[in-house]
Amino acid sequence: MLAYRHAFHAGNHGDVLKHVVLVALLRHLQLKAKGLRFVDTHAGAGSYALDGAQANKRGEYRAGIGRLWQRSGAPEAVADYLRLVRRLNPDGRLRRYPGSPWFALTLRRPQDELRLIELHPTDQPLLQQLAAGGRGVVVQRADGFAALKAQLPPPTRRALVLIDPSYEGHRDYPQVFATVRDALGRFADGVYMVWYPLVRKPGAAVMLQRLQAAAPRGWLHATLNVQPLDADGFGLAGSGVIVLNPPHTLHATLRGVLPWLAEALGQHDGAGWQLDQRSR
Ligand SMILES: C[S@@+](CC[C@H](N)C(=O)[O-])C[C@H]1O[C@@H](n2cnc3c(N)ncnc32)[C@H](O)[C@@H]1O
Repeated sequence: MLAYRHAFHAGNHGDVLKHVVLVALLRHLQLKAKGLRFVDTHAGAGSYALDGAQANKRGEYRAGIGRLWQRSGAPEAVADYLRLVRRLNPDGRLRRYPGSPWFALTLRRPQDELRLIELHPTDQPLLQQLAAGGRGVVVQRADGFAALKAQLPPPTRRALVLIDPSYEGHRDYPQVFATVRDALGRFADGVYMVWYPLVRKPGAAVMLQRLQAAAPRGWLHATLNVQPLDADGFGLAGSGVIVLNPPHTLHATLRGVLPWLAEALGQHDGAGWQLDQRSR
């Protein structure tokens, strides 16, 4: 079932958290000259219109990137992310929002490799078009959970893997864990980043516990809670990111970022953030 289309959600508060963390990770890993392989197992279309029908059906971006667009005083990691989003909107009007592959394509150095995997028959060709001609860039139409196996270990022994499924059903949670466990068996030194929604569904808590237990060199877990659930207790309250084998600088970076994001994006008194880390 591929009912999910990211165009309806692009630029929402979940994307903001995910992409701020992604940009911080790419920046850190690119401090070393040696080439990096970035694998995006659920890459989406790569770039989204915010002035079209899909984005405006529920207007989720207004409570995400829309709230940050005119705001000043952002911590450096958020300011860095915002400068990148502004490159896609050079006249200053917020009309497009970049997907995770766009950030990676924009920050890619000649020695880096990108493996962008997307299964949807409409979004994959859009991604292919966006990434066309990039040396070292491969776009695949495949099941990202299965396709990751062939990408590890990378020749340079340096990799960042983003696993960002749609969590449409309950099966993505155990599948994320099984995929990461297999990936760690192939390449224990990789940096693995998993995004997940804070929704009232079983599965996330078990997935997190298992990922934390499996992390060879420790983990970092960040959540941002911004909006109340609806009257039935459903909706997207916020989201979380867990990074396995995180760079040592990430905790301090997010310690500065999360309170600012919670203040800027929070829609109720219960809005807040959490940040935990374990090193081994
Ligand atoms: C949350 S979106 C990805 C957003 C993207 N990572 C970003 O940050 O811009 C999830 C994507 O996974 C795709 N998808 C769903 N099942 C998949 C699978 N088994 N393998 C690869 N892609 C899949 C969906 O079509 C959707 O585009």
